[in-house]
Amino acid sequence: MQTRPLGSTGPQVSALGLGCMGMSALYGDADRAESIATIHAALEAGVTLLDTGDFYGMGHNEMLIGEALRGVPAALREQALTSVKFGALRDPNGGWSGYDGRPAAVKNFAAYSLQRLGVDHIDVYRIARVDPDVPIEETVGAIGELVEAGHVRNIGLSEVGADTIRRAAATAPISDLQIEYSLISRGIEEEILPTARELGIGVTAYGVLSRGLISGHFTADRKLAANDFRAMSPRFQGENLQHNLALVEALRKIAEQKGASVAQIAIAWVLSRGEDIVPLVGARRRDRLTEALGALDVTLDAGDLAAIEAAVPAGAAAGDRYPSAQMAHLDSER
Ligand SMILES: NC(=O)c1ccc[n+]([C@@H]2O[C@H](COP(=O)([O-])OP(=O)(O)OC[C@H]3O[C@@H](n4cnc5c(N)ncnc54)[C@H](OP(=O)(O)O)[C@@H]3O)[C@@H](O)[C@H]2O)c1
Repeated sequence: MQTRPLGSTGPQVSALGLGCMGMSALYGDADRAESIATIHAALEAGVTLLDTGDFYGMGHNEMLIGEALRGVPAALREQALTSVKFGALRDPNGGWSGYDGRPAAVKNFAAYSLQRLGVDHIDVYRIARVDPDVPIEETVGAIGELVEAGHVRNIGLSEVGADTIRRAAATAPISDLQIEYSLISRGIEEEILPTARELGIGVTAYGVLSRGLISGHFTADRKLAANDFRAMSPRFQGENLQHNLALVEALRKIAEQKGASVAQIAIAWVLSRGEDIVPLVGARRRDRLTEALGALDVTLDAGDLAAIEAAVPAGAAAGDRYPSAQMAHLDSER
């Protein structure tokens, strides 16, 4: 497995990480046994970075990862690095009710996550969205205290803009920024990515397949459950969806010429953006994982990259990447 550094202060990790969110939440029902088999297959293939959030299924995702880790030999378990997001507040009906980044809350969230994961430390810990009522210095400072106490190894950020990156980095060493980045979500290229690079902060890119939209497997007639994020996502609606799927067909022509799948081209494109970027792929089945890992064998030369750029130029997608209420929580979009 190829590896990449998580910023100048973080660990060396597999060049692709596994995002486990869809195994518990947001993309409709998932198969528990297949989810665990997928985590096992990823670890066996050399994937070392497992990404989760304590709010993915209200603890479900962490318990799933904990169970998967207990089911592998110690050598594999010890290689696994956990990247955990916290801060999102939920209610018993599955609703979302804001963010809490107060220092006491940070330590409370961490205590529960350590239990659910069954680990003695979290490798990267980050607030999912900035709490507008708590300065980022206080939230990051609290994670810093968890680092000093040995409960956390590295501090990460999620969906923050350049100013917040600078303030956080002035408070404590930051390993990586987790943020959406794909062929059709390129907003970070102007200011956020250069700022992260200037400060030696790596990027763990999510939504590399735009939640399946540009995987080559998504079809306009797919029925989505009411609790599937994509049923509310602007990019998956009506004319936007038709427009975006036409981009995928343009990409498919390039993929066919390369003897690769559309998903592999989309992942390989993010990999090609720099050694400081680690794509998190959201595979929740072994066949999807195998396809995603195949992207590591796809080399894109200058001609391929030009053809991809012509097929899917920056800004080509129709629709925002989140519904408007959720866009409002994104410090990265200010
Ligand atoms: N920091 C943040 O704000 C934030 C936000 C969202 C996600 N994340 C993290 O990033 C991870 C990845 O995000 P994501 O799930 O949106 O990523 P993604 O990789 O863009 O989308 C994953 C979806 O794409 C579909 N897919 C089709 N072919 C695939 C293939 N070969 N490999 C993988 N997926 C394929 C799957 O849908 P089907 O199973 O339906 O085929 C899967 O559910 C999440 O698990 C989570 O840990 C972070």
